[in-house]
Amino acid sequence: MLYTNFAGYIKSVQMERITLKDKTFRIFIPYEDISAAIDDVAVKINADFEGCTDFPVLLCVLNGSIMFMGELMKRLKFDCQIVSTKLSSYEGTSTTGKVKQAMGLTADITGRRVIVVEDIVDSGNTIVELKEILKEKGAAESRICTLLLKPEAYKKDVKLDYVAMEIPNDFIVGFGLDYDEYGRNYKDIYVLDK
Ligand code: IMP
Ligand code: MG
Repeated sequence: MLYTNFAGYIKSVQMERITLKDKTFRIFIPYEDISAAIDDVAVKINADFEGCTDFPVLLCVLNGSIMFMGELMKRLKFDCQIVSTKLSSYEGTSTTGKVKQAMGLTADITGRRVIVVEDIVDSGNTIVELKEILKEKGAAESRICTLLLKPEAYKKDVKLDYVAMEIPNDFIVGFGLDYDEYGRNYKDIYVLDK
């Protein structure tokens, strides 16, 4: 679903604007909508995995996916192992085009089915790199689950198995996503106010 916000939906408890370092952001996706989208994506994952006995891996891509992972995992109805890795490609509000693996996988995933849990797919460089890493490490299969997708920016062929929300090609923060490490702790998602 393409998410479009409308002013009347904003509840008074949310801050309409936040300032992080030198930039101002305005409310874009309230937590209630994020939560509903995660409900829907969890239903799809459960439909594919419920009843399995192979103990699939949920791979948390640090740091951006922390909040999404916390919300997603409590909705899953099958036994799964949490593994983490850290990749980064963003500096400020744009991608450098180069993906750095700042921390390797925290467990051996040889022969395992892996569900990559990402905060956002933008250019797709990160998931292309991740798919390669998982293949090299001997994963039996890897699927991509992302909270957000910017379809206008995504130009890769990698299949996105589970997408909770599609958004326009704007820079956002909150719910784990950052601007120079600021803003990850907000429960709502904010968009750069140009
Ligand atoms: P990609 O490699 O271009 O697909 O970028 C993916 C990574 O860049 C994500 O996992 C995020 O960590 C970061 N990123 C992409 N878009 C945004 C954004 O709008 N706000 C904050 N981080 C972003
Ligand atoms: Mg990320």
